[in-house]
Amino acid sequence: MVANNGAPVVALLLLLVSAAARAAGDGLLQNGNFEYSPNKSQMNGTRVMGEYAIPYWKVTGFVEYIASGQKQGDMLLTVPEGAHAVRLGNEASIQQQISVTRGMYYSITFSAARTCAQSEKLNVSVAPGPESGELPIQTVYTSSGWDSYAWAFKAKRGLVSLIIHNHGEDDDPACGPLIDSVAIKTLYPPQATQTDNMLKNGDFEEGPYVFPNARWGVLLPPNTEDEHSPLPGWMVLSYTKAVKYVDSAHFAVPHGARAVELVSGLETALMQEVPTVPGRSYRLEFSVGDAGDSCVGSLQVRAYAGEGCTTVPYNSQGTGGHTRASLEFAAVADVTRVVFVSSSYITKWDGTLCGPVVDDVSLVCVSQQAPPSRRLLRL
Ligand SMILES: *[C@@H]1O[C@H](CO)[C@@H](O)[C@H](O)[C@H]1NC(C)=O
Ligand SMILES: *[C@@H]1O[C@H](CO)[C@@H](O)[C@H](O)[C@H]1NC(C)=O
Ligand SMILES: *[C@@H]1O[C@H](CO)[C@@H](O)[C@H](O)[C@H]1NC(C)=O
Repeated sequence: MVANNGAPVVALLLLLVSAAARAAGDGLLQNGNFEYSPNKSQMNGTRVMGEYAIPYWKVTGFVEYIASGQKQGDMLLTVPEGAHAVRLGNEASIQQQISVTRGMYYSITFSAARTCAQSEKLNVSVAPGPESGELPIQTVYTSSGWDSYAWAFKAKRGLVSLIIHNHGEDDDPACGPLIDSVAIKTLYPPQATQTDNMLKNGDFEEGPYVFPNARWGVLLPPNTEDEHSPLPGWMVLSYTKAVKYVDSAHFAVPHGARAVELVSGLETALMQEVPTVPGRSYRLEFSVGDAGDSCVGSLQVRAYAGEGCTTVPYNSQGTGGHTRASLEFAAVADVTRVVFVSSSYITKWDGTLCGPVVDDVSLVCVSQQAPPSRRLLRL
């Protein structure tokens, strides 16, 4: 074979040698950024005609293969990773087989942008099921229009199909979200890092895959009941709104490499349930700060535990920084919910939402017997 131009030959060889599903490591799925293009013979304009036309993927319904810079009406479509993405029309889906380890937990991260419709939803699932989740793509959190979303599942088999499905009902069948950069990461069961911290993953270090080039963090949509969380130990409680997972490569993070930005105000709570002994006293400590993402204003985090509650004000210059706070409380039940919410959110100059960052959370038992009264403390 004479290779005048090496890249297509290498791409073709890669396709030939890895026809079987590859064991999932952390990172992009095979052709997870859709840079290997369908054969022109399997396209009609931008529409993908063959089920297996996009290397490594199976498509159903009205799927378009989009090149960055392509125009749709007045809208210029851009792509976060590389030069290509796909668009899922009504009832369209993309899927890929991935080999996983049965019984292990995985998180999926992908980037999506809504296009014409105001409110779009994607259904992410693994087959064989029963796990699926509906991720609302209705709020624009970033000015680029692209957001990354995380979802998690427990592998019931060694070989599963990941399916991303748009069951939208737009009048225009071509309207639908763009998808790019689909990645997977193994989640390890949460463990207490410090022996006396009763919380799991209190520093938020264990979480979904974060794309090295995604400056916008990863949105963690609300968990519906009995779903697995892409942020081990924690649940996001909301009707439709998310919290944002931020990393130290792109944001100011109070401790370690990861933290959570509460971007949806009172509409979303971050929660962990901890076994406690009624009557005993506990101390919750945590950091409140800003992610250094130009979120300027008076931020406020409310923390709840047992019947205790504290409000932590934080005056943000939007340049990073944090304060420590604590709450002492007596447990009233054998399970205590530790909850964080932001009293408000801020809309930045570019229209995107932001809020306070919570990090480095610990819960310790401070007494063996019931105290006469609860005390609220702030450091
Ligand atoms: C593209 O499709 C044509 C027609 O089906 C086929 O002859 C050609 O080998 C295909 N090319 C690749 C790279 O698969
Ligand atoms: C390609 O799409 C156009 C417009 O929808 C349609 O008229 C035409 O029949 C299609 N061609 C093929 C080969 O499917
Ligand atoms: C998502 O898709 C799965 C598999 O097709 C289906 O079982 C599930 O009911 C769907 N979930 C929602 C919320 O639509």
